[in-house]
Order: sequence, then C-alpha cells, then structure tokens
Amino acid sequence: MQNSFLPQPQSRELVVGLVGCGVMGRGIAQIAVLAGAQVRLNDSREGAAAAARQELLATFGKLVEKGKLDKTAADAAADRLHVCAPLQDLAGCHVIVEAIVEDLAVKKALFSSLEVIAGPDAILATNTSSLPVTAIAAGLQHPERVAGFHFFNPVPLMKIVEVIGGFLTKPEIIDYLLALGHHWGHSAVRAKDTPGFIVNHAGRGYGTEGLRVLTEGIASVPVLDNILRDTAGFRLGPCELLDLTGLDVSHPVMESIYHQYYEEPRFRPQVNTRQMLTAGALGRKTGHGFYRYGADGKKEAIAEPAHAAQLPSTVWLSRERPELAERVAELIAAAGVSIEASARPSDSALCVVTPLGEDATTCCARENLDGRRTVAVESLFDARRRRVVMTTPATTSDYLAMACGAFGANGIPVSVIRDSAGLVAQRVVAHIINIACEIAQQEIAEPADIDRAVTLGLGYPLGPLAWGDALGPNTVLTILKNLEQQTGDPRYRPSPWLQRRALLGLSLHHKEI
Ligand code: NAI
Repeated sequence: MQNSFLPQPQSRELVVGLVGCGVMGRGIAQIAVLAGAQVRLNDSREGAAAAARQELLATFGKLVEKGKLDKTAADAAADRLHVCAPLQDLAGCHVIVEAIVEDLAVKKALFSSLEVIAGPDAILATNTSSLPVTAIAAGLQHPERVAGFHFFNPVPLMKIVEVIGGFLTKPEIIDYLLALGHHWGHSAVRAKDTPGFIVNHAGRGYGTEGLRVLTEGIASVPVLDNILRDTAGFRLGPCELLDLTGLDVSHPVMESIYHQYYEEPRFRPQVNTRQMLTAGALGRKTGHGFYRYGADGKKEAIAEPAHAAQLPSTVWLSRERPELAERVAELIAAAGVSIEASARPSDSALCVVTPLGEDATTCCARENLDGRRTVAVESLFDARRRRVVMTTPATTSDYLAMACGAFGANGIPVSVIRDSAGLVAQRVVAHIINIACEIAQQEIAEPADIDRAVTLGLGYPLGPLAWGDALGPNTVLTILKNLEQQTGDPRYRPSPWLQRRALLGLSLHHKEI
C-alpha cells in the first residue's frame, strides 16, 4: 500500500476524523465506525458532535432491535466513536473527512487548519457535491493528499461513493479511498474532478429534458410523469423527483452545472423552474410544487385528461420501421381490430406511424398520409402498463378517440401527447444515454463505473450505457440525429462515443485499446 503511515482500510488501528456532524457527517461516521475504524467527531457548533454521537448510538440500538446488528458489535462500535471538541484533537488521524457547509471559502479555511493539525501523510477528504476538489486543495502546502470522497444521502443506504482526484492528487490517495469506501460497504467509483462528478452530471438529462417536454406543451405534469414511470421504468417522474428534492436545491444545481460546462446545451435548464423557485413553489417542503401536498405530506393526485375511446373499423400501420410496426401490430391485434394489408390506407382507416426520434407530422408527411387521421404510437418502450399516443396538429377528435380505443383495449391507460420529436420516453432516455456516453468520452469515469454510479446513485432501472446497449446503440443514434435535425438544437448532437460504437456495432461499454 501507498505510505507506511496509513493502516489497511480494515485495520482496527485506522483513525478517521469526521468534521461536520450534519446529516452526511453522521452517515459517514456510522459506516466507518461499524466497519471497524476509530472515529473522531468534530463540529464547530457547540454540542453538535456529542449530539451526533448520541444519535448514532440510538441508531445502533435500533439496528440491534431489528436484528441487523449484533449487540457486541454495537457496543464495540460505540467504544470506537469519540467526540473531539477542538479541531486539534484530530491530530494523529489517518484520514479526515470533511462534511461541513457547502461553501468554498469556509472549506478552504478548514483545510488550511487541518493541514497543520494532521500529520503530513494523512489523507484529507471532502464530501463536497458541487465544489471542485482542486479548488478546495489549491493553496495548501500538500494539495496532493486532498481528494473528494462523495457519499450520497442517506449514506448507510446509498451504497455508492465517488472518489475524486483533484488536479494534483496523488494516485495512491485515490486508490486508498477506493479501498476504504469498498471496505465500508459501498461501491467506490473513481471520477475526474469535473462539475457534478458522475452522478450529478449523469442526472442532468432526466430533469432538464422532462422540463423541456413540459415547456414545449407536449405533455402535462401527470402525463409526463406517468409515461416515464410506466413505460421507461423510472421510480419517479421528473416532476415528482424535482418536488421531492426541492427546487431550492435542484434549480441552482441545474444552473450551476450548465454554467460550469460553459453553457453546454445538453444541460440547459428551463425557465419554468426558475419561475416556480421565485414563487416559492419548491415542492414537498412548501406543500406546493408541480403537485400539491396535503398536511399529511401526501401528494394530491392529478388525473390525466379523459379521452373518448371507440374502436376503429380498420387501422393502417406504417411499415417504415418493420421491427416497431410488428410490436404495434400486436397491440392492435390484441384489441381485435384488423390491420389493412394494403400499401396505402383506405379512405376511413386510422393511420398509425411509429417514429424514432421524429414527430408524427414528419412521418405523416413523408408517407403522404392524411394528418387528420394520423397518430403516432410509442413502440420502443414497455407498453404493458401504459400506451402513449401522439397526435399531429391536424388529428381530429374522432380519430384520436379511435386511437384511444385501439390502444386502450383491456383497460390499459392511454396517455395522449402533442406532437414531439422522439415522443417522450425516447427523447428523455436517449438524452440520458448521450450524456453518459459523453462522460465516458471525456474519461470522467470508466464505463462500468458510470452505470454502477447511476443505478446506485439515481435508482434508474438500468445504467445508461447498458440501457443504450439494450435499445441498440444505432437506435439511440437515430433518435438523437432525428431530434437534432428536427429541432436544430445542438443539445441533441450525438456524442462521438455513441456514434463510433453504433457505426462499428460495438457495445457502449467498449473501451479502446
Ligand atoms: P448540514 O448542514 O446538515 O451539516 C453541516 C454541519 O457542518 C453542521 O453540523 C455544521 O455545524 C457543521 N459545520 C459548518 N461549518 C463548520 C466548520 N467550519 N467546522 C466544523 N463544522 C462545521 O450539511 P450536510 O447536508 O450534512 O452536507 C455536508 C456536506 O456534504 C456539504 O458539502 C454538502 O454539499 C455535502 N453533501 C450533502 C448531501 C446531502 O444530501 N445533504 C449529499 C452529498 C454531499
């Protein structure tokens, strides 16, 4: 191992200092002490470290009650957990983890003090989620021993930690923290010191693209959330997620990452959340955000608009994309509706197109169909829980009713959206995959680590690169190219990582020699 001063991560000799006993500091202290380290708690607020120790002991008691922790182990952990009031008492720590307020000047001042107190070989780590590690380390006598050790809230449950090397950090410091995070029971992934590191960078796609769908008037709040939950498999829709996090946190993060990447269009925020923030509609914490919340904190349900439904006599189905048409044909057949075999639709048939990154209008015009009788349907994502029907600007209510009848048979809900290049799920998921590809292209993290960090940190149903492989890199590339062409927005320009792998038939996990 690196330097002889540092004990092995599993050694009972290891002494960890924890500065800042807020929610993160307490969580980190918990996993460290339960994994066998000696932990010294410090907080500048009087009594905070002692209160944190009491709280942790209470947590250990609950874990013992639930049978999740052995009583002897809990007692031993309690003996290893110490309050250390003056910062000077951190002298002799092997690793000091800072989890204080997210303020660069305050953190820099703390690290200046710590480098005098800690021995020259001790590791100084920061749990910052948004400040550059390089900036925190800048000006110190030994910036090479400073690294990011970024946990997620709640620490004991979110089993992921990003280990971030600043510009001058020594590789062995990173290796040590990776081993330490792993020993503490977390997946430890290496990330470059870039805005948002991995998780908060990869997470920019979901919210910003969801908000774009809203501001373009394509779907209302519940429609957007229902589609992304039920067809793409996200645990929460983007509006539900923003309400949970609170716009006082998420909107500034969206703006900050956008500006830190020099106005990269992929991260462009939307004006609606700025306005909501100004109005104080922050989400759950204010009882009002995208949704309203009762006094008991329960979300008030908003129903999707009701649409009339009647079965069409016949359906004509575009064969431009045979593999997608086949899936849609199965849905129509299940409703007992016949599909016309002719190359052109009969005079009264409902016309159905299956776009990939295009809007319904473009497909309709290219095939010279009657826009009044045409709808598009989502065919790339799971249709078992919800169907998505997209109108052209010309679709009549009679034909929309027929589409709702054909696709809503068997009681499966149908969400109706306005015309949109890439419907909803295609554009949102392709955007997320594209950002992950760019993270790989910029060597911010290894492909496998990107997927691991995103599934553990964000709870997405699949890692974005694995998701791209499952959909097919070529399919994702087609969606993005069409989106870029239809909107003229460089936001959708495909990452070279994606383009090259799609063209060569390689997995998105494939690394070059
Ligand atoms: P918090 O506000 O709950 O706790 C911060 C603690 O630090 C307080 O107890 C405060 O008294 C103490 N403190 C402030 N200045 C200090 C100083 N100079 N010396 C010693 N103690 C000081 O904050 P939280 O949420 O625990 O966040 C801590 C750090 O972790 C921040 O850098 C934050 O960005 C990061 N983080 C927070 C996450 C979260 O979900 N809350 C997730 C990941 C990272």
